[in-house]
Amino acid sequence: AAVGLIVVAAGSGRRLGADVPKAFVPLAGVSLLGHALRGALSSPGVAEVVVVAPPGWTDEAAAVCRWARSQPSAASAPAAATRRTIGVVPGGAERGDSVAAGLAALSPAVSIVLVHDAARCLAPSTVFDRVVAAVREGAAAAVPGVAVVDTIKEVDATGRVVGTPDRARLRAVQTPQGFRRDVLERAHAASSDATDDAGLVERLGETVVVVAGDPLAFKVTTPGDLETAARILAG
Ligand code: CTP
Ligand code: MG
Repeated sequence: AAVGLIVVAAGSGRRLGADVPKAFVPLAGVSLLGHALRGALSSPGVAEVVVVAPPGWTDEAAAVCRWARSQPSAASAPAAATRRTIGVVPGGAERGDSVAAGLAALSPAVSIVLVHDAARCLAPSTVFDRVVAAVREGAAAAVPGVAVVDTIKEVDATGRVVGTPDRARLRAVQTPQGFRRDVLERAHAASSDATDDAGLVERLGETVVVVAGDPLAFKVTTPGDLETAARILAG
């Protein structure tokens, strides 16, 4: 079962507020997309990669792909490294549209699909490995999750608290999220409208399992998150 990876990098990064799209913002001299690809390519299971870039940034994204594939971590991944195909396609207006564009570009050989946010640029390869393993072992969908530290309230439109779910039962989910390809395609055929692909799969009534996530798979959203990422890289 060949694993294909979709890296969604087509967002503008409005909350980050940089003068380039978020995936191209530098962090310790390397774009967020470059970091994300470097982590993903050191997972030996990934056979094919599609990067979904902002329209107008596909050439730039292709250059980042060439850089990432030349990195020692990618080269040390066995045989797959040289046979890996890496492509770039333009994204859509919403994240879900970008995932759908990536899905349409995967080769027929791919039967397990990972979807990863470029913005989770420090996600370690071990998370990719765990997600792939869960799908290989038979899960229709597997997502990395971490325990929630804050108590979470559900509120109504006026801000009034409706309920307090038991925190022990909650997980904050990250990417890469992994899917049987047919399941993810059915989910997107129904609707691509969700911030989380696993949510689409849940709507189909398919089972989604949570595997251990990693604090390093946090999403760079705000300037403060970028500072956090820079501090982590500085050791
Ligand atoms: N994304 C995408 N296509 C979109 C919107 C988002 O590929 N139309 C990607 C982003 O590039 C990012 C991931 O989805 O890697 C998660 O989205 P988010 O963190 O919200 O990034 P942005 O949408 O770029 O940021 P913002 O919402 O602040 O504008
Ligand atoms: Mg967004």
